[in-house]
Amino acid sequence: MISQNTSCVLWRFVLTITIVIFFIPKISCAKQFKLMGLNMNMIDRCWRPNPKWRSQRQQIATCSIGYVGKMTNNIGNDLIQYEVTDPNDDPINPKLGTLRYGASVIQNKVWITFQKDMNIRLIKPLLISSFTTIDGRGVNVHIANNACLMIFKATNIIIHSIRIHHCKAQASGMVMGPNGKVIHLGPVDGDAIRLVTASKIWIDHNTLNNCEDGLLDVTRGSSNVTISNNWFREQDKVMLLGHDDGYVRDKNMKVTVVYNHFGPNCNQRMPRIRHGYAHVANNLYLGWMQYAIGGSMGPSLKSEANLFIAPKGGSKEVTWRKNGQINGDKWEFHSVRDAFENGASFAVTNGGRVQKPNYSKEEDFKVVDVKSVRSLTRSSGVLQCSKTSLC
Ligand SMILES: *[C@@H]1O[C@H](CO)[C@@H](O)[C@H](O)[C@H]1NC(C)=O
Ligand SMILES: *[C@@H]1O[C@H](CO)[C@@H](O)[C@H](O)[C@H]1NC(C)=O
Repeated sequence: MISQNTSCVLWRFVLTITIVIFFIPKISCAKQFKLMGLNMNMIDRCWRPNPKWRSQRQQIATCSIGYVGKMTNNIGNDLIQYEVTDPNDDPINPKLGTLRYGASVIQNKVWITFQKDMNIRLIKPLLISSFTTIDGRGVNVHIANNACLMIFKATNIIIHSIRIHHCKAQASGMVMGPNGKVIHLGPVDGDAIRLVTASKIWIDHNTLNNCEDGLLDVTRGSSNVTISNNWFREQDKVMLLGHDDGYVRDKNMKVTVVYNHFGPNCNQRMPRIRHGYAHVANNLYLGWMQYAIGGSMGPSLKSEANLFIAPKGGSKEVTWRKNGQINGDKWEFHSVRDAFENGASFAVTNGGRVQKPNYSKEEDFKVVDVKSVRSLTRSSGVLQCSKTSLC
């Protein structure tokens, strides 16, 4: 009896182990996969669970949300696939295989990928042509230590998964323009990405830090921009929306800022807005020094379900208004469903109505509860994509 029992127990034990080894991994894998999808934000959920993302890169064109709408103008049968094989740069006579050749010389719809990890030191700002996608997924691409990116009078551009940092101011000079012709470009401040009279621009999953001027400037009548899933860190002036106080054309500017991670060590302008309208939703703010969100010239801003974690010392107030009390309450700074930690506060507009973004069907997205913001922004910045599987 005893020995029979023992063997029965043993047999059961073996069976259990067998089940654990052969079945559980599959179940938990599928489950993990599903959980992963559920924890992703709306943009990422659209493509990251696809194990074939490498051969189906153009899928992301349908994943954008917010004022940029969908990027379906960037794909189609007439799309040119271009691979960067050479990290060098010639600003006037770009060689085939370099980033500048793909981004400025090629005038057709182009999808740019990178053959391998690369550190690209641009000699002059890179002027990106309309209908260009720069897709750094799967490799480590740094654009750093000198000139950086500029979108000048161009539309329908995606910038994805690029590390842009230590950008420096540039003297004026000759450079290949976005129309494929050499132009004279005036001096530029050291911004990571600068938009000048640009529209329909999607900036997703980039890591931007340590630049001489700002990380991202949206200026001179630029509009229809979505800034999503980026990691902004180690910077004084982070994001400027609206050129200067006198540039009234920026009244029509519409920008969506969603699922970004700000900090550590960001000082101000997350964003600073002039004239136009910004919908700032589901972002994580890991401290600030002067302020997080500021503005002048009567902008409108809807801050929705962001998590503001005030710094230990210094200013706890999220907002800043140029000229403080005098014009302050004429500006529409609204906070809806935001959460505040470490004593953070948000001086909202008194009276007035919250301006709705009025998104069209393809721009629209559900702003989730602020409780999920930490997990939805966990993979902001450039993604670590393994060679064999998911991103
Ligand atoms: C922005 O998009 C809207 C709606 O699609 C369009 O009417 C408007 O002309 C666009 N603005 C710019 C500057 O392209
Ligand atoms: C959305 O529409 C309402 C009603 O027409 C308007 O008051 C509001 O300014 C609009 N929002 C934006 C961002 O233009």
